[in-house]
Amino acid sequence: MIIAIDGPAGVGKSTVAKLLATRLGYLYLDTGALYRAIAWKALQSGIRPPDIGQVLKLLPTTSIHMQFLHGAMQVLVDGIDVTGELRTPEVTVAASMVSALPAVREWLLPIQRQIGQQGSVVAEGRDIGTTVFPSAPYKFFLDADADVRVARRHRELVAAGRGETIETTSRDLSSRDQRDRTRSVAPLTPAVDARSIDTSTLSPAQVVEEMLAVVSIRQ
Ligand code: DC
Repeated sequence: MIIAIDGPAGVGKSTVAKLLATRLGYLYLDTGALYRAIAWKALQSGIRPPDIGQVLKLLPTTSIHMQFLHGAMQVLVDGIDVTGELRTPEVTVAASMVSALPAVREWLLPIQRQIGQQGSVVAEGRDIGTTVFPSAPYKFFLDADADVRVARRHRELVAAGRGETIETTSRDLSSRDQRDRTRSVAPLTPAVDARSIDTSTLSPAQVVEEMLAVVSIRQ
């Protein structure tokens, strides 16, 4: 059983996907962490995305594994647990760039699909319903007003001790959105059979209730 949740940054995908996975006892697959892991490896190797050629050269000698500990996903790059290092601003920008590379997306596909074979999964990302798990029985596309998304992302950054201004957060979010929506392969777009939820005025718990209502009606 796969539940696919897609949408742009700042719509509350991760919070909702984690809550839903806990409620259902499913694995939580954060696919953004995989793009971040490649970006992390590139930065560690002294490569500054978007140096496409160099990023592509890394792939054959890179191994990325996910493991689940008490429901939490850990990402191992070449055997090293890098989970705690994936959410820095540098990795965020680099991840957005490497995720636009078709070869990177293709390389990560089997890794994501293999998790889908390990059991029931709530998978979160940008192309889960359209590309990674197109036959998932449940697909949700979350969206929210741009101002709300910027404010949410800014609150997260402040809570993480980062000093970005609202203006910087807004600029970063819109350039990531632009890249995600316009890339040539698997751009961010709702699957035709996805149910859209506008989270602008909803709490994460309300979004989860809406999803659970859909899942239980059809089961
Ligand atoms: O969700 P996130 O911010 O952790 O994702 C990091 C980057 O990876 C983001 O710029 C979008 C990209 N991404 C993607 O292209 N496809 C996915 N399925 C997940 C993330």
